[in-house]
Amino acid sequence: MAKIGQDFNSDFTIEQNWRDYRQEEHATWRLLFERQQRLLVGRACQEFLDGLGGLGVAADGIPDFRRLSEVLEAATGWRIVAVPGLVPDDVFFAYLARRRFPSTCFIRRRDQLDYLQEPDIFHDICGHVPLLMNPVFADYMQAYGEGGLKALGLGHLQHLARLYWYTVEFGLIATPEGLRIYGSGILSSAGESVHSLDDPRPNRIRFDLRRVMRTRYRIDDFQQTYFVIDNFQQLFDATRPDFAPIYREIAAQPDIEPDALIGSDRKFDRASWGRPNVGKKMGRKLSAAQV
Ligand code: PHE
Ligand code: FE
Repeated sequence: MAKIGQDFNSDFTIEQNWRDYRQEEHATWRLLFERQQRLLVGRACQEFLDGLGGLGVAADGIPDFRRLSEVLEAATGWRIVAVPGLVPDDVFFAYLARRRFPSTCFIRRRDQLDYLQEPDIFHDICGHVPLLMNPVFADYMQAYGEGGLKALGLGHLQHLARLYWYTVEFGLIATPEGLRIYGSGILSSAGESVHSLDDPRPNRIRFDLRRVMRTRYRIDDFQQTYFVIDNFQQLFDATRPDFAPIYREIAAQPDIEPDALIGSDRKFDRASWGRPNVGKKMGRKLSAAQV
C-alpha cells in the first residue's frame, strides 16, 4: 500500500495495488463509511448522494480505482490517478485541467478516525469523487485547474486557493429543504458534518467571489465561516470571468479574518437554514456521540 515518502513516478503517480490492502484497512473504511452514511442523510446535497450511488462506492471496503475510473469516465470523462500525498501545486492543477483527480491511497489509522490534517483515501474518494459525477461540478473542477495554472503565473495562488477551500472543501448549498453540504472537507468529517449545519456559532454567508478570495482560513479547526451557493451553475458562472483584474482589485484590499463579518455580507439566519425540530435534536445526539 502507498505510504507517503514512498517512491513515485516522475508524474507523481503510484500504483494503488488494491490487492495489498489489509483486512484491517478495509474495516477502517467500512467504519468511516457507515458512520458518514448515517450522518449524511438530510445533510449532504442530493448531487453528492446521487454521485455516491452512481459510483457504487459501497460500504464493503476500500474501492479499486480502476473500477471507479471506468464509471466516472463514462459519466463525465474524469479519471482517478493514484498519488502518494499532496503533490506540487502546478502538478495538481495540471491534473485537474486534464480531468484527472489525484487521490491518495493510504487510509488513516484507527486513532485518527475523527481527525486528520492531510487527505487520505476516505477523504479523497468519499469526499471529492462523488461530485465529479455531476456534469456542472465536473466542469467547475476542470476550470479550477486551468485557473490554478494561470494564478500561479500571476502570483495569486493564495487568492485562488481560498476559493477552493471555501467551495470544493467547505462549501454549503441552499435548497428548498434547507442548507446542505457539498464541501468534501465537511463530508468526510463526522464532527464537521454536524458543526457546519447545526452549530449556531459559525457564520453562514451567501457566496460572493471577491469576499471569498479575501478571506483567510484555518486548517486546524472547524471553520468559523461557510459560504453558501444556490446551485453549481451559479458557482460556475460566478467564476467564469477573467480573474486577472479581480486579483488586482482584491490585492489592494485587506484580507478578512476567518471569523469576521463585513457590511456587505448576506447572512443566513437560523430560520432560513434550519431543519425545524429534526436538526436540533439530531445535532445534540450526534455531537455527543460522534464528534
Ligand atoms: N475564470 C478563472 C480565471 O480566469 C478561472 C477559474 C474558473 C478559476 C473556475 C476557478 C474556478 O482565472
Ligand atoms: Fe480535499
